[in-house]
This record gives sequence, C-alpha cells and structure tokens, in this order.
Amino acid sequence: MTPKDPIKEESLDPANWDQLRQLLHDMVDDSVDYISSIRDKAPWQKMPLEVREHYNQAYPKAGQGATATYEEFKKWVLPYTMGNAHPKFWPWYMGNGSMMGAMAEYLTAIINSNAGAGDHVGQRLEDQVIQWMISIIGYPKTASGILTSGGSMANFVGLAVARNAKAGYDIRNEGMRTGTKQMVIYASTEVHNCNQKAAQLLGIGDRYLKRLPVKSDYTMDLDLLRLTIQADKKAGLQPICVIGSAGTVNTGSIDDLNAIADICDEENLWFHIDGAIGAIANLSEKIKPLLSGIERSDSVVLDLHKWMHIPFEAGCVLVRERRDHRDTFAVSAEYLKVNHGGLASGRDWYSEYGLQLSRRLNALKVWMSIKEQGLDKYGRLITQNVEQAHYLGQLINSHDCLELMAPIVLDIVCYRYNPPQQLTLDELNQLNENILVQLHERGLAIPSYTTLNGAYCIRVAITNHRSKFKDFADLAHDTVYLGEELMSTPINQ
Ligand SMILES: Cc1ncc(COP(=O)(O)O)c(C=O)c1O
Repeated sequence: MTPKDPIKEESLDPANWDQLRQLLHDMVDDSVDYISSIRDKAPWQKMPLEVREHYNQAYPKAGQGATATYEEFKKWVLPYTMGNAHPKFWPWYMGNGSMMGAMAEYLTAIINSNAGAGDHVGQRLEDQVIQWMISIIGYPKTASGILTSGGSMANFVGLAVARNAKAGYDIRNEGMRTGTKQMVIYASTEVHNCNQKAAQLLGIGDRYLKRLPVKSDYTMDLDLLRLTIQADKKAGLQPICVIGSAGTVNTGSIDDLNAIADICDEENLWFHIDGAIGAIANLSEKIKPLLSGIERSDSVVLDLHKWMHIPFEAGCVLVRERRDHRDTFAVSAEYLKVNHGGLASGRDWYSEYGLQLSRRLNALKVWMSIKEQGLDKYGRLITQNVEQAHYLGQLINSHDCLELMAPIVLDIVCYRYNPPQQLTLDELNQLNENILVQLHERGLAIPSYTTLNGAYCIRVAITNHRSKFKDFADLAHDTVYLGEELMSTPINQ
C-alpha cells in the first residue's frame, strides 16, 4: 500500500544512467592520461589567490549536476594537489598510490561495506590481508591484527594493548587509578611523535614516554635503556613497554631489535615496534637482515600507504597474542550481539580489535594490489628505492659542496649544501631552507627537511615506485645550481 498523497520520491542515483556511464568513462580516461603523463608536470605548484578564495563559498542549496561538478574538480582541484603521485615527490614519508589501488578505492565505495561488523566477505578479506602481514613479519599464525587509518592509529592501538596487558589491574574498568605506580614507556628521541600523542591520550603522560638519547647512528642507546629501567624500578615507577623503531622518520635508522627483545624478556616488558616506515621492508632480501628480531616483538605497526603505495589511508597493527588484542577493545552491547545465523553472525568482528565500529573496507585495495603485483615485486621496489638512496649518497659524497648528514640505512637521505666559503651554522641553515623552498616553488622536486644536531638538512624520503636513478642526479645538480645562485643573489628574508 502506498501513501494517499505520495511525495515525489527521490534518490541520489542519476536520472540518466547512460549519461553517467559516459561521464565515468571520461573520468577513467582522464585519470589514465593524468598518471601516465605525470612526469611532465611540476610535482607541486602554489595555489593562486583565486584558488584559495574559490573555497569560500556559501553552501549550494541546489546541486549543479555531475558533469559540472567534475569540470569544477578538473579546474579547481586537480592542478593544485599535494603531488604524491609524481616521480620527484620525496617529502616526509608517503607513498605514490597505484592505478589498481585507485580502482579498488572506487570499487570499495561502490560496494560500500562496513568492515566493522557482520558476516560478509569484507571480514574474510581483512583476515586474509592480516595473515599475509603476519607472515611477512614472521609472527605465529595465531596472532591478530587490524587495518587502521594509518601509522598513528596503528601505534595507538598497539600501545593501548601494551598498557592494558601490563597495567597489572583491570584498567579498562577502573581507569588510571591514583595510588598505583606510574607506568613508563621507553623509546629513543627519534621516535615518531604519534607515539607521543598516544602516550598522552592513554593517560601515560608525555613525561613518562621517556625518550632516550641516540648513538651516532641514530639508534637507541641500549646501555642507557637498561640503566634507566633499573633506576625507574628503584624509584617506584612501573616500566611497561619499550618502543623500538624499525625506520626512524628523520634518518631511517633501525634500532637493534634483537637486543631490545632481550631487554624486554629480562624485564618483563611489552615490546612494541613502530615499523611504519621499515617493517614492510622485511620483503626486501637486502633489508631483511637489518630487521632481525622484529618477529620477537609483542606488537608491530606497518603502514601500507607508505612503502606499499596503497592509496591513503591504510595502516596496520599486528599483535602476537590475539587475546591481549581483543581484551583491550571488545565491549558487548545489545545491538551488536552476534546471532547464530544471518548477517549478524560470525566471529571476531573487527570492531572488537580497535576503536572504530564503522570502518572503510580498506582490505579490498590492499588485497587487490597484492594480488595484482605479488609481494616479491614490492620487495624488489623497496630494494630499488634503497639503492637509489645509496646512489644519491654517492653523488653527494662525490661533490665538494654537498655534505651527507646521516648514514643511509633505508631510503632516507639527509644532506645539505655547504660551499667552500666559511658560513656560520645559522647562515648554512638559512641557505639550505632557501634551497628547499626554491626546489618546491620552481617545481623541480619535493624533498622535505629536518634538523640534525642543530643543522638544517634537506631530507629525501624515496618511497616512490616511479622515481628513476636519473631523478637523483637531477636533484644533486639542482641543489648545487640553486646553492650557487643563492650565494650570488641571496633572497631577502
Ligand atoms: C616512523 C613513523 N611512525 C608513525 C608515523 C605516522 O603514520 P601516519 O602518518 O600514517 O599516521 C609516521 C609517519 O610518517 C612515521 O614515519
């Protein structure tokens, strides 16, 4: 029976499917043109004022339709993107994405499954991907894991499990009790700041994420770690966890994971690894030996939108003991009870292993990308980037005006322009910042920066399956060229 005075029914579907089909075909054609010719474009361009102002409009009460909206995207969005897909994009630490990853994103949105709950293929896809990650790391098959938005959320989940497992009381029920010992987590000064956020949000407190000094190779000083743990125990604190870095964000250094595992065994501490950068490099025959001990951790983070080039967002955390993982997040609710059959059946819904109930089906794009290329290929691409980093290091070492600022371990190169004229540290820092800005603004390349022992460095993170060896020869050349130019006509700050 329909209502007596039916309202005009609407939906978000198109009035004309054939027209939409044509538009979608055009979008695919345009995106193939865009990616296949990306090398010919500047990696980044500054947004003119009119573009900034374009995003200051009142909300549209009536829609303009699909075609006009796509035209607006082409004019006002596409030319001003971050530049991640470009072969000369090397800032911070990010991946390029891939065509299969992009199409899988589209298909993910088409089926629009919620990966948090229910008995459907999304859960099996995620199980499959997690099992592959488990075997890459060398964890037992019984380990658990979850795909997250990225490395920050993955570290948060891992540290939440560590806190719950090592608190020594029912912290989920009682919260952070006054009168109990202060929990402490240890890491090096090079640990990524998302772990700092996690320590703050988990009630550990920033002060009690103790960041220990590093040695000259930027790895954690483990003698100091032992001494600090002992001193803290004597002082009545409660050490619970050590975070090892498998690839630090500044230089790509890898802590001695076996030695940290030994210390955690002796001291009964949780061993968490932030492997957002380097854990996936266990796929590379060249890098695998450097990661020895990763399989001994209690939890480990991999970040698949970095060196696996899965389109944003895709992180992952694995936990050796499934029970520890589930015991941190599972909460029962009437409306989420598991039925004996139907969609609401099955076991181990992913909402019981993380913070989110509703979740994107991130597993589809990871699964399709791995199926398309095979994991050996990803291992070879990782090795290729590491070799490109060493090649850039050689170019730097062979040039009088370029200086390598940290050892190269993975795919991160820190260097600066340092001409024969005697410049002060401040002058050198300013000069190198100016070089970096010019590299970006002239559309030559997109490295980023860091500061090591007070020295501003140009930092190149080669997580890029499109980069070629020649691109690094260009970078060395462009740095020297800009350095000389800026020395003869300095920019007024
Ligand atoms: C070592 C390390 N850990 C964690 C993160 C945070 O990862 P995400 O940006 O995916 O949240 C990063 C980001 O670059 C990182 O380099």
